[in-house]
Amino acid sequence: MAKSPYYLTTPIYYVNDRPHIGHAYTTLACDVLARFKRLDGHEVHFLTGTDEHGQKVEKSAQAAGKDPQTFTDEVSQNFRNLAEDMNYSNDDFIRTTEERHLKAAQAIWKAIQANGHIYLDSYAGWYSVRDEAFYAEGELTKGEDGQKLAPTGAEVEWVEEPSYFFDLSKWQEPLLKFYDENPDFIGPDTRRNEVVSFVAGGLKDLSISRTSFKWGIPVPDDTDHIMYVWLDALTNYLTAVGYPDEDNPDYSKFWPADLHMVGKDIVRFHAVYWPAFLMAAGLPLPKRVYAHGWLLNKGEKMSKSLGNVVLPEDLVSQYGLDPVRYYLLREVPFGNDGYISHETMVSRINSDLANDIGNLAQRSLSMIAKNCDGVIPTPGAFTDDDNALLSSAHAVLDDVRSQFDQQAFHRGLETLWKVVGDANRYVDAQAPWALRKTDPDRMATVLYVLAETIRHLGILIQPIMPDAAARMLDQLEIAPDARSFSHLGPDHALVAGTELPKPAPVFPRYVDEEAAD
Ligand code: ME8
Ligand code: MG
Repeated sequence: MAKSPYYLTTPIYYVNDRPHIGHAYTTLACDVLARFKRLDGHEVHFLTGTDEHGQKVEKSAQAAGKDPQTFTDEVSQNFRNLAEDMNYSNDDFIRTTEERHLKAAQAIWKAIQANGHIYLDSYAGWYSVRDEAFYAEGELTKGEDGQKLAPTGAEVEWVEEPSYFFDLSKWQEPLLKFYDENPDFIGPDTRRNEVVSFVAGGLKDLSISRTSFKWGIPVPDDTDHIMYVWLDALTNYLTAVGYPDEDNPDYSKFWPADLHMVGKDIVRFHAVYWPAFLMAAGLPLPKRVYAHGWLLNKGEKMSKSLGNVVLPEDLVSQYGLDPVRYYLLREVPFGNDGYISHETMVSRINSDLANDIGNLAQRSLSMIAKNCDGVIPTPGAFTDDDNALLSSAHAVLDDVRSQFDQQAFHRGLETLWKVVGDANRYVDAQAPWALRKTDPDRMATVLYVLAETIRHLGILIQPIMPDAAARMLDQLEIAPDARSFSHLGPDHALVAGTELPKPAPVFPRYVDEEAAD
């Protein structure tokens, strides 16, 4: 049975700055899910990219002494490089300055306008360039010197200019009805509750064009205006699957999107404005928006002004790519805010990776190399213990799938590591090293069961640690086309007599330089 196509997206990142670990985190979570879905038999479209218009980017370009196009070309490239450095498997990388996007953004404007949901008026109110957001007077707070600040702490400025408006106030009831009928539309529940109460509190019409600067997509038929950067940016999710060409095969296959992954700072844009824009344009709504929490460095949100930004390339060069990928999704319960630190990184690397899964593979494969002439041994009849381990390694997929479908990545990994724990207890209980003299046939069976368990684990950890998993599977001589989830289970079990390469450790311990002195 063919599985449904799966379309997931990251936010498109502002090109005002170089990527930090927070950006890497969101895209990593999507990458793990994209890889998981591909291995699980889905046709996947995984989109990331950069948000290049608006005042924030224009100002950053000015500060860098560059014209916006040159500036965005350069900074956007940093995000492409990040995808390379982090081994992301995105199928597309969109830039909002591309021609295909200009067409899509103008088309959605026209669709919303044709349906009577846009009117011309003038805006007088507060705007935060850092957030690219309008704020009502009542939402503002006071800074230390009494100046007005956005609820996010960002500076605001007074704006008065002619502006087109979107009739957001009319969408309160349709949105509430939609949330009610689609309880999984927003996750986690805390975010869902916030969004529902925000909408229930009433919505104001939204200014969707600007006239006081030029760096944006021209409003169709009124080039004094450029489109509000969020209407422009959100539309990227449609652009990438071919909109406005609704006959494009990617459009019919992938829209509506299965998942928009975002950080909790931008949930309102994705869970309120975006579905309202789509309803107004008469387009289908995405199935889910998931808003994760903040990665904190020593208790503070990372920010340039605090000078505590962690760069992904620094973590990767210190700890290695796959350990970093594992750590980020295992250490912090996805959806919550959480700390990252050197101490917890080292502890995860040395216990979960080196000790638990690394040792399991290394000692099992070494025993096969030494005691079975380096070939997969021929098993005898399986005992209950053997069957228990093999079936837990096989059955775990169902649990991990449902946890990943809820973006509970930390739980999915915890579930997988239960199998690792079971396997380690099995080695200790069976003591194959003692069986070498007393019962070599039983030793062969035990080592076979271990190799088969490692095959399962190697296949299952591919989404999270693609390189390490590949090395584990290479050591078992698993063909590249025999590594999908459909190869789990007894039908594709290891074939006795297969010659194996010399085993080599896949998960080295991290030794602190200070500790080593
Ligand atoms: O908001 N912890 O772009 P942006 C976790 N262009 N995630 C973090 C983080 C942190 N400390 N810091 C940033 C924009 N992020 C718009 C989006 S989408 C149509 C337009 C991640 O460059 C998180 O995903 O400010 C957050 O939502 C995103 O970066 C914001 O990126
Ligand atoms: Mg931001």
